[in-house]
Amino acid sequence: MHGFAYKNGSLHCEDVDLSALVQEHGTPLYVYSAGTILDHYTRLDQALEGVEHEVAYAVKANSNLSVLRLLAEHGASFDIVSGGELFRVIKAGGDPAHCTFAGVGKTREEIEYALKQGIYSFNVESAEELRYLDKVAGELGMVAPAAVRVNPNVDAKTHKYISTGKSENKFGVDFEAISDLYARAAEELPNVKLRGLQMHIGSQLTSIKPFVEAVEKVTPLVKQLKADHGIEFWSIGGGIGIVYQDSLESGSVDWWDSKSEQDRPLTLAQYGDALLPKLKDLGLKILLEPGRAIVGNAGVLLTECLYEKKGSAKTFKIVDAGMNDLIRPALYEGHHEIVPVKEPGSERVKVDVVGPICESGDFFCQDRELPDFQPGEVIALMSAGAYGFVMASNYNSRPFPAEILVEGAEAKVVRKRQTLDDLIAGEA
Ligand code: LLP
Repeated sequence: MHGFAYKNGSLHCEDVDLSALVQEHGTPLYVYSAGTILDHYTRLDQALEGVEHEVAYAVKANSNLSVLRLLAEHGASFDIVSGGELFRVIKAGGDPAHCTFAGVGKTREEIEYALKQGIYSFNVESAEELRYLDKVAGELGMVAPAAVRVNPNVDAKTHKYISTGKSENKFGVDFEAISDLYARAAEELPNVKLRGLQMHIGSQLTSIKPFVEAVEKVTPLVKQLKADHGIEFWSIGGGIGIVYQDSLESGSVDWWDSKSEQDRPLTLAQYGDALLPKLKDLGLKILLEPGRAIVGNAGVLLTECLYEKKGSAKTFKIVDAGMNDLIRPALYEGHHEIVPVKEPGSERVKVDVVGPICESGDFFCQDRELPDFQPGEVIALMSAGAYGFVMASNYNSRPFPAEILVEGAEAKVVRKRQTLDDLIAGEA
């Protein structure tokens, strides 16, 4: 479910007409629906009702301050991966005591900053990092709260760049090595308090099976760690996939109802229903780290068609957004549904939608049947709320697009479009 739909012949975000937004703010333009973000957050929170839990939003998915503030105001915790993300959470009014810090390469500076801010847990990814954490904490006269990330060696069956729970991935500590690591830490590392266990097997998982497999595999381990070391939480990570194909239709209740049970993508309720019975009697606080499931379908990238170029082999629609603004198609062959902002007729054409960047990988779709649209018209790249703006770059010296947050009939600029002067700020 999401807040994007055609009304009176024009695509709207909640009650705001996107063509009016484009007139005022130009393109490329990211637009987010606050209602959708909160709806997804609340559904996930409710899906885990019945067990003590926290929904720690994965800041990396969309770290705009206003998005973080919205979630902080509604009680979210946060999963961060850098000192920069912690800084953003604090600026947005989030509570460091409800932050977990993930990532394989935390620097001394980041560790010190997070220790001083009093975060809930360092989610540590190697024995070496745990030792270093102990050293830094000791030097500051502090005790670092920590959890080790277990790599359960489960196949998440997602794109290889976003699969993280197999032994060949760089993430976490081998399942078989965890017990020994906790035992050694208890003896040798006085400045670390191991208070939990963490795992995350990958992103954009569209089946419940790998989640269930990982939870079942790791359950005996958390029970043992609780008995031996008194751990208090288990973070089962993020990774819940969203609808990318048909993502405009999927916003309506009818669409969900019209799908047979097995054709429906994983819903937040199904996720909760499948996992809750396995988690609720462990006596542990359960943490989730969802990113995409909360913000993915809550955002679009609007871009104007500049030219239509008919080559001998293909028709190219050249738009003013590029892979520097939304890199998912280039990097992961990510599919984003493309729809014109002006409600289209039934005519469809097979096209490549491409950006202005000097790279062949700069495309948003290839050989796709789309409703026809012409130069001067604006299209929406759907489901761009997660890993969209946050992965943008200034490649080809293109300024960052603006970001807008919509709440009902109100649209606020939550990040100004970069100017040419911004582009060179700090350079000599
Ligand atoms: N927790 C940890 C430790 C993670 O590494 C991630 C994502 C998450 C939680 C949140 O995962 P989510 O619920 O959003 O799937 N840029 C890629 C996705 C990279 C995900 C990285 N880690 C994409 O655009 O598909």
